[in-house]
Amino acid sequence: MKRKVALTVNGTRREDEVEPRQLLVHYLRDTAGLTGTHIGCDTSQCGACTVLIDGKAVKSCTMFAVQAQDANVQTIEGLANGDQLHPLQQAFWDNHGLQCGYCTPGFIMAGVYLLSQNPNPTDDEIRKGLEGNLCRCTGYVNIIKSVKAAAAAMGGTGAATSGATVAAGGE
Ligand code: FES
Ligand code: FES
Repeated sequence: MKRKVALTVNGTRREDEVEPRQLLVHYLRDTAGLTGTHIGCDTSQCGACTVLIDGKAVKSCTMFAVQAQDANVQTIEGLANGDQLHPLQQAFWDNHGLQCGYCTPGFIMAGVYLLSQNPNPTDDEIRKGLEGNLCRCTGYVNIIKSVKAAAAAMGGTGAATSGATVAAGGE
């Protein structure tokens, strides 16, 4: 029997009928149509499905959609401000932080959370902050470089200067 779930996704309030066993990642992709959140493993190891829930990075394959009741969910689609990329998206672009791009949304969402907690991370802190995310093709050097570049672009405040919505439960 389906159950109703009401939550906010990228600033938009939604109410949907879902199977109680539906994972949040499937809800985001199949019900909300937000296919930027990827599924890399379904066993909570790769981090491709990372989104922000009430400002915190969460692997969306590790919870049911109904558990997001009343939560504020932000996906990769909610980061840019119109045509203006979020500084982390721009930094991944500028620093070749991706190759196939499959893992990228998860890395960027985990990176947004990392910078919201630690606006000026060292290389080691970035490695630690992103240790739940796996990339099979870029290698991690350019990913770390991208996060550092974004930190500099954001002025070491953890807040985007573009006016784009950022972490911490952003609408
Ligand atoms: Fe969620 Fe891999 S799909 S951690
Ligand atoms: Fe291909 Fe990371 S860019 S898996």
